[in-house]
Amino acid sequence: MSVACRMRGPLTPWREPEVFLELDPRAMQLEVRDYRPADREHLGECLSALLDEMVGLDPWHRTRRTPDYTTKSISKCLREVRQNDGFILVGEADHEPAGIAVAWISGMSEVERTITLPTRVGLLYALSVLPGFRKNGVGSALLAECERRFRQRGCDQLGLFVFAGNKGAQRLYARHGFRDRAKLTVKQLGPPLRRWPPPPGTKRKPRRVHP
Ligand SMILES: CC(C)(COP(=O)(O)OP(=O)(O)OC[C@H]1O[C@@H](n2cnc3c(N)ncnc32)[C@H](O)[C@@H]1OP(=O)(O)O)[C@@H](O)C(=O)NCCC(=O)NCCS
Repeated sequence: MSVACRMRGPLTPWREPEVFLELDPRAMQLEVRDYRPADREHLGECLSALLDEMVGLDPWHRTRRTPDYTTKSISKCLREVRQNDGFILVGEADHEPAGIAVAWISGMSEVERTITLPTRVGLLYALSVLPGFRKNGVGSALLAECERRFRQRGCDQLGLFVFAGNKGAQRLYARHGFRDRAKLTVKQLGPPLRRWPPPPGTKRKPRRVHP
């Protein structure tokens, strides 16, 4: 079964998009379930695939993947989920692990409480579908289940960060009713710190990495 989400008419920030299912008999059989310890390798694979995608999409070319990324990232995800009433979902296509969603509740600081209306925000930290399984509705199914769980937890918002160049993901989010709220804007003040200042004895001029 494939899941497609479309919106009818203009959307306001408080209006729900109309979501409906399209049945395609040729489509893969989808299931979304909770993460189990045996999924650790799949989680690592999905987190790495996600980061590799971000490395290619970062207009500032400042995103990278170090060899210890996967281990550290898995630990961070498991810790945050445990500490912040979160969850990890595994999307299966035809009974094979195909993607993941990692999400938890983002707390508000004392100061934030003084400047923001009371809110409980679910943070979708990572959404990743392995390349061979994309465009089959796995991402949509994971997103829909995240939304359902955060509603269950009393959240009034679901938020995430997405690179400006990630048009595919942005389309998916827009279809599910997401609207931009903030923009991270950056001015490069010099060459990347990794090369600047150059180590003593280095003759080569640092390469400027501007978009
Ligand atoms: C973004 C991402 C999670 C989407 O996952 P996905 O499983 O491909 O998502 P879906 O299949 O639900 O939807 C993607 C598209 O496939 C289409 N689709 C869904 N089911 C389909 C089917 N059976 N046949 C053909 N197309 C289908 C959807 O309509 C949608 O179309 P669109 O690109 O025009 O919006 C995935 O591409 C990914 O992991 N990307 C790399 C990591 C990333 O960018 N993550 C988000 C970081 S913020």
